[in-house]
Amino acid sequence: MPTGKSGNSFVIVPLSTTPNTMKQQETAKPTTRAALSLGRGLELRSPVLLASGTVSYGEELSRLSDLSRIGGIVTKAISLEPRTGNPPQRIAETPSGMINAIGLANVGVEQFIAEKVPFLRELDTAVIVNIAGRSIDDYLEVVARLEGVEGLNGYEINLSCPNVKGECMIMGVSCEATFEIVSKLRQITNRHLMIKLTPNVTSISSIALAAEEAGADSVSLINTVVGMAINYKTRRPLLKNITGGLSGPAIKPIALAKVWEVYNAVKIPVVGMGGIAGFEDAMEFLLAGATALQIGTMNFVYPDIGEKVAIAIEEFFSAPGAPSLKEYSGSLITT
Ligand SMILES: Cc1cc2nc3c(=O)[nH]c(=O)nc-3n(C[C@H](O)[C@H](O)[C@H](O)COP(=O)(O)O)c2cc1C
Repeated sequence: MPTGKSGNSFVIVPLSTTPNTMKQQETAKPTTRAALSLGRGLELRSPVLLASGTVSYGEELSRLSDLSRIGGIVTKAISLEPRTGNPPQRIAETPSGMINAIGLANVGVEQFIAEKVPFLRELDTAVIVNIAGRSIDDYLEVVARLEGVEGLNGYEINLSCPNVKGECMIMGVSCEATFEIVSKLRQITNRHLMIKLTPNVTSISSIALAAEEAGADSVSLINTVVGMAINYKTRRPLLKNITGGLSGPAIKPIALAKVWEVYNAVKIPVVGMGGIAGFEDAMEFLLAGATALQIGTMNFVYPDIGEKVAIAIEEFFSAPGAPSLKEYSGSLITT
């Protein structure tokens, strides 16, 4: 982390009453040089999205950051039923990152529609709903219930949570299961389908290809990397779940390599994430082949990091003689 000498301290940023970003306040920014389309109607003002599980349902963050500057937010995973998640302790700091085993705690789809969507749909930014399930039918049912709900711009299908035994991760590690679930989802929705991939597999590009073949509009990667933290004095793991998902700057090199691999395998847009902590990291992901990117863990350190990175990217592509975002994405020089 770029905070503190040891490089692994999180800074608690106090709540403030800075810009609210509701649609009715006419905060809409004009189309920008960094605007893009991810396909099937998902238009983004900026390639910067905020990653699932790190911004809840957007409410707290909207008081700390101008969300009309960024491309969109991805909600916490929504499942069919409400979930309390794993027992504590379920978060621990690690060098240059954190490890979590939250276990997909969420309000469930019905409460999400009743209590969270009315706020989300007023935000002047794209809203992508992250979806998790125990079975293919679970995913289909959640999407079916969201289909009639206005104000949502797409779905990110979480096939990759490493912290819940026996569910989404099982699907995300199999090409056949990925193909089956994505093709079934494709039959019931015309909204953008972004498939979120796990790095905890032998060949992430094979899974990405299966998703593409089944009709995915984009793939997003990476979810967290399976990890473990131990206190040698107590002889206990730091997490009750024993293992968890590692995120933050510690995983950036892994994420860049996976984005590059998948970019070279598929034709659909790649949404890159994993340890992005500023403008330069974001640019590296674009070069490695990302069309858009997501910022996760670093929102806990700097709640307005998305806004700042989006502004810096906009400035970069607006400079005289600058390439277009499309030209720049994937233009890594390897010879
Ligand atoms: C506390 C926490 C909760 C998360 N919850 C979800 C989730 O519900 N669904 C999901 O697809 N990813 C979830 N993630 C993974 C992030 O969206 C992201 O893929 C990962 O953390 C890597 O990005 P980062 O290094 O920028 O955090 C979570 C990550 C963290 C740290």
